[in-house]
Amino acid sequence: MSSSSDDRIAKLRSRQWFGKHDRWGFGHRAWLRAEGFSEQVFEGKPVIGVCNSWSELNNCNAHLRQVAEAVKRGVWAAGGFPLEFPTISLGEMLMKPTTMLYRNLMAMDVEESIRAHPLDGVVLLCGCDKTTPAQLMGAASADVPAIMVPGGPMLRGMWRGIELGSGTDVRRFWDEVRAGRMSEEAWCEIESCISRSAGHCTVMGTASTMACVAEALGMTLTGAADIPASDSRRLAIAEESGRRAVAMTLEDLRPTRILTREAFENAIRVDMAIGGSTNAIVHLVALAGRLGLDLPLTKFDEISRTTPVVVNVKPSGEFLMEDFCYAGGLPAVMKEISSLLKLDALTVTGKTMGENIANAQCFNRDVIKPLAEPLKAEGGTVVLSGNLAPRGAIIKQSAASSHLLRHTGRAVVFENNEDLIARLDDPSLDVDESCVLVLKNAGPKGAPGMPEWGHLPIPAKLLKAGVKDMVRLSDARISGTSFGTIVVHIAPEAAVGGPLAIVRSGDQIELNVAERRLELLIPEVEMKKRLAAWRPAEPHYRRGYGKLFLEHILQADEGCDFDFLRGGDGREADPLRRFRNPGV
Ligand code: FES
Repeated sequence: MSSSSDDRIAKLRSRQWFGKHDRWGFGHRAWLRAEGFSEQVFEGKPVIGVCNSWSELNNCNAHLRQVAEAVKRGVWAAGGFPLEFPTISLGEMLMKPTTMLYRNLMAMDVEESIRAHPLDGVVLLCGCDKTTPAQLMGAASADVPAIMVPGGPMLRGMWRGIELGSGTDVRRFWDEVRAGRMSEEAWCEIESCISRSAGHCTVMGTASTMACVAEALGMTLTGAADIPASDSRRLAIAEESGRRAVAMTLEDLRPTRILTREAFENAIRVDMAIGGSTNAIVHLVALAGRLGLDLPLTKFDEISRTTPVVVNVKPSGEFLMEDFCYAGGLPAVMKEISSLLKLDALTVTGKTMGENIANAQCFNRDVIKPLAEPLKAEGGTVVLSGNLAPRGAIIKQSAASSHLLRHTGRAVVFENNEDLIARLDDPSLDVDESCVLVLKNAGPKGAPGMPEWGHLPIPAKLLKAGVKDMVRLSDARISGTSFGTIVVHIAPEAAVGGPLAIVRSGDQIELNVAERRLELLIPEVEMKKRLAAWRPAEPHYRRGYGKLFLEHILQADEGCDFDFLRGGDGREADPLRRFRNPGV
C-alpha cells in the first residue's frame, strides 16, 4: 500500500474507535470480537457499513440479505471490513397509512446510524419506493462515502399468456371487475401470478424510477438500476459495489462531491426521458434540500419541455422492466440522450458519467426509442400552476389521455378519502364523464403523509358505461404505476388553507397542460370570501412521531422533508467532533 493510502487509512473514522490503545479502543475491539472476528480485522481495514432495508414486511426488499452477502464478499476481497446493520424498512403494500409518513423517519435512521458508528463508508441496499430516497437523504446528510445497490425489479407477471405489470395492470383489471367485465375467478388467478419473485414492482413505477434516478445522480455503479432482482448479475454488481466502496473510502469520495447541481440536472433529465414517477419530483427536491441546493419546480418543467420520453415501459408505454434491462437499460437511455446530459458529473465509479456510459448500447429499439423518434416529444411529467395551485401541481402527461389535457369541467368534490369511499359508487352521485373529480385533505398534513390516493377511481356507474379516464385532482400523490389524467401534489394543500380547500361541487375547473395552468373559475372576490371563512381541522396526532411530523413537515413543492433536516453540514454533528472519547 502506498504512503498516501497509509495516510488516508490513519485518518479513517473507524480508527477513532479501533485504532487506539487505551481503555476505549480495548472496549470497542473486545466487544465486537464477541461476533467472532479475529484481531486482523482491526488493523486498519476501512469499515464498510452495509445499510440493509431488508424486511419480511417488505416483499420488494425480501432478497436483500442475499444481496448483502454479495456486497460483503466484495468488501472483504478489497481489503475492507464489512458490518451489516438494519434500519426501518418501508414496504408500500403493508405499511399504513402510507410509507410517505415514514420516509423522513427512515432517512433519520440511516443518517444517525451511519454517524453514530465506526463506519468509513456505506453500501445502501434499497428497493421499494421510499427506501431509495430515504437512504439517499440520510447518506447525503451523514456525508461519508456511500454507494447504492438497488434490489432490482421482480420477474414479470404472467397470466394466461398475458404479461402483467404490477400496479398498472392491477388497476386496469380491478376496473374491469368493478364494471362486471371480469370474473372473480380470473381476478383470483391474477393474484397468484402477478408477483413472481422478490424485487420491486415491474413497471416504471416509483421504485424503478428512483433506482434510475440514483444511477443518474451517480450514486450507483453503471447498470445497477434495472437488473432483475433474481438475476445473478444483481449479486455480481452488489459484489462489485462492495469492492468499490472500499476504494471510495480511500479516495474520500463522499456524497457531497457527487450530488452536485449537475448531477440533479442529469437525474431530472433521466426522470423525464424514462416517463418516470411523479414521486421522483418530491424526493429529488427533498434530497437537494439536504445539500442546500434549491430545486424549484420550474426547473423540472424547464427540463421536461426539452426532454423527449424515449422509454416505452408501462405505465407510459407497453413493456416491463425486464424488457428494459435486456434492451440495454439505463446506460443505453443515457447514451441516447447524452447530448442533453452533463457528462462531466462525477460518479461513485470515480469517473464521469460520460466515461461510464461511453460504451453503452441499445439492443431493442421497440423498448428504448431513438432520440430522433421518441415515444413522446416532451418529458413525462410537467408542472402546473394557477389560482388553484399557487405553489404548483404535477401531472404525468405521458400516462394521461391526450383528449383531456385541455379540459374544463364541473367539480365533483370529496372532502376527504372517507367521503370518497362512501359516495364514489353511489348510483345517485351527480357525475358524468366531463366532470372533474376533486379530492381534498389528502396532502402532507391533511391525510396525513400525502398517501397515493390521487388515482381516484372512476365512479362505478361511469365505468359500466365504458368511461376509462376523467380529469382528477388532489393534494395527494399517485403511485408511479398509475395512469390517467390525474393532477397531484397541489400546493399549498387543503389542510393548510390552500385554494383547494375552498373548491365546491358545481364550480368550474380548467386544466390546460400545454399552458401549464390549473384554474378555479370563480370570481376573485368569491375566492377571497371563501378563503377568509376557512378554518383548519383538528390535528391528526397529539403525541409521538405523528406530532413531530405534523409540526415540521414541509409542503410538496419543498419535498415534504422536515424543516430541521434541510441544509447544513451533516458532518458537524459527527460524534468524533463533539466527544473526545466516542466510547463506552
Ligand atoms: Fe414495493 Fe411496488 S410495492 S415497489
